[in-house]
Amino acid sequence: MSKKKNELNHLAIIMDGNGRWAKKKHKPRFVGHREGMDNVERITLAANKLGIKVLTLYAFSTENWARPKEEVAYLMNLPVRFFDKFMPTLMKNNVKVNIMGYLDELPKKTYDVVQRAMAETANNTGIILNFAFNYGARKEITSAMKELGKLIESGDLNSSEITESMISEHLMTGDFGEYQDPDLLIRTSGEQRISNFLLWQLAYSELAFSDKNWPDFTASDLKEFVEEFQNRNRRFGKVDESDS
Ligand code: IPE
Ligand code: IPE
Ligand code: MG
Repeated sequence: MSKKKNELNHLAIIMDGNGRWAKKKHKPRFVGHREGMDNVERITLAANKLGIKVLTLYAFSTENWARPKEEVAYLMNLPVRFFDKFMPTLMKNNVKVNIMGYLDELPKKTYDVVQRAMAETANNTGIILNFAFNYGARKEITSAMKELGKLIESGDLNSSEITESMISEHLMTGDFGEYQDPDLLIRTSGEQRISNFLLWQLAYSELAFSDKNWPDFTASDLKEFVEEFQNRNRRFGKVDESDS
């Protein structure tokens, strides 16, 4: 096999199409969310096997509160179900859980369960399973700007000293160090838009779209996308050596 051109350290996925998956089967939307949740485990284990270091999954956006009350309630309870069901597997596979988003706005039960999942897996050293939950990129960038503004107000920072890496570090991916920015973003369900996900971090990510709805997206689909990614020419604004 030819040598890989790119290493995939950080993979981000917009897990879309749960509702349409359910509709096709004449089932209520929540059945799609339940299937989608089970798929998170399969894809996490597959990503781990592929050597991915950070897997960021968009699970609930700051805009998703506008859905019907019953659906929002079901989605808010999903972390409770997910960690109840999969915590032993996550521990066995050395998975470290992170939840990025506005956690203070979550119902108490959801807040408690995500905090516990992070605490219980804090010493695991394998793949980071990073859920974006009540996450929105514009809100995240706004928060980062406010933090920098406060540093300026207190005299700890001069506006002329603001750097791109300083902004990166004030975002919710700031703790991931060299893996802050996704190398590859996959969106399922055939939609081709970003929907307020990681606007800053995706600046030079490779984008890929699957027509499958999230519950149907398999480990072998993932492997195909990863292999295709590994052979892309990432130029970062430069000229390819082979083209010059
Ligand atoms: C993705 O599936 C899950 C969430 C956004 C919470 P959707 O619920 O958006 O499914 P579709 O896009 O309506 O099919
Ligand atoms: C994006 O999907 C958010 C998540 C997958 C959690 P949406 O289904 O909310 O996005 P739009 O509304 O189609 O852009
Ligand atoms: Mg959707």
